[in-house]
Amino acid sequence: MTSATLDDLVRQAHSSFQAAASPAELENAKAVFLGKSGRLTELMKGLAALNADEKKARGAVINRAKQAIEQALADRRQALAQAELDAQLTAEALDVTLPGRQRTGGGLHPVSLTLERIEAIFGSMGFDVAQGPEIETDWFNFSALNTPEDHPARSMHDTFYVEGGTPQAPLLLRTHTSPMQIRYAVQHVKAHRALIDAGQPMPEIRVIAPGRTYRVDSDATHSPMFHQCEGLWIGQSVSFKDLKFVFSDFCRTFFEMDDLVLRFRPSFFPFTEPSAEIDIQFQSGPLAGRWLEVAGSGQVHPNVVRNMGLDPERYMGFAFGMGPDRLTMLRYGINDLRLFFDGDIRFLSQFQ
Ligand code: PHE
Repeated sequence: MTSATLDDLVRQAHSSFQAAASPAELENAKAVFLGKSGRLTELMKGLAALNADEKKARGAVINRAKQAIEQALADRRQALAQAELDAQLTAEALDVTLPGRQRTGGGLHPVSLTLERIEAIFGSMGFDVAQGPEIETDWFNFSALNTPEDHPARSMHDTFYVEGGTPQAPLLLRTHTSPMQIRYAVQHVKAHRALIDAGQPMPEIRVIAPGRTYRVDSDATHSPMFHQCEGLWIGQSVSFKDLKFVFSDFCRTFFEMDDLVLRFRPSFFPFTEPSAEIDIQFQSGPLAGRWLEVAGSGQVHPNVVRNMGLDPERYMGFAFGMGPDRLTMLRYGINDLRLFFDGDIRFLSQFQ
């Protein structure tokens, strides 16, 4: 093969590389010329038949052709890589002149804000915060709380029963946070059993338990799911006067009103004796002068103290259950409870 034909071969390789539109096509084109049985390789093999001088001269010419082909290949590789990069840059181009999207900051739900407030205030009075299950047994929700079999709250009209329980131990969605009185106290008593058995005074139980609760009820002021926050303080001489002090202090701090008036109105709960509804009255603002019910409360019933694993002759205290939804409505002047659970952003964004 003359050097003229070798030049041809270089030209063919060059145009075949140029014609390759992708790296894969280029590799195929390369194989035709530089591959194991490529055209240039075949020429190299032909050298074997020549004598030493011819081999040297011919070899040099073929080598130059080979270098030219390799150079053409490298150029094309580079061009294809550049083209690919350009295409990618165009496809992913950012228009930095576009106006930015408005960042809407998230915020806490108004009821969550209230719960945080409740936890902070009671936390400052030395109360622990506990959480418990929303699916409860009938024991914790009713029986342990001294609630008799025929109590109306136990009926299907008032309580959501759920599958999975047994006739002896039905399961339900807790109707109040009061089962946490028992759950928390039992744990506490277990942790201090040795001390109690030795006749030493047990460290006091002081806890609040906020969370979701459920009842078969639905209108502007009742939702089938709502929130409650339980409070419990048990010690050796914790009395009703401590309840009055603690709850009054809480309400005045919560509403930031020193002149808030409280009323403890005699009532009945199976798990407290005596029992009281707690009403508050604002002295100013749109609700001034009206009595507003915010909690149920009372001295923990001796049977309940016993179910906590304590001797009611030695331990006593109070409990209360308040409605954080109600407190939120009063604090912000909201008149429909359902607004809390609709998830309407126009309503919720007002609390950020
Ligand atoms: N659990 C009662 C209710 O849901 C409230 C309450 C709690 C009353 C603790 C007394 C003591 O109505």
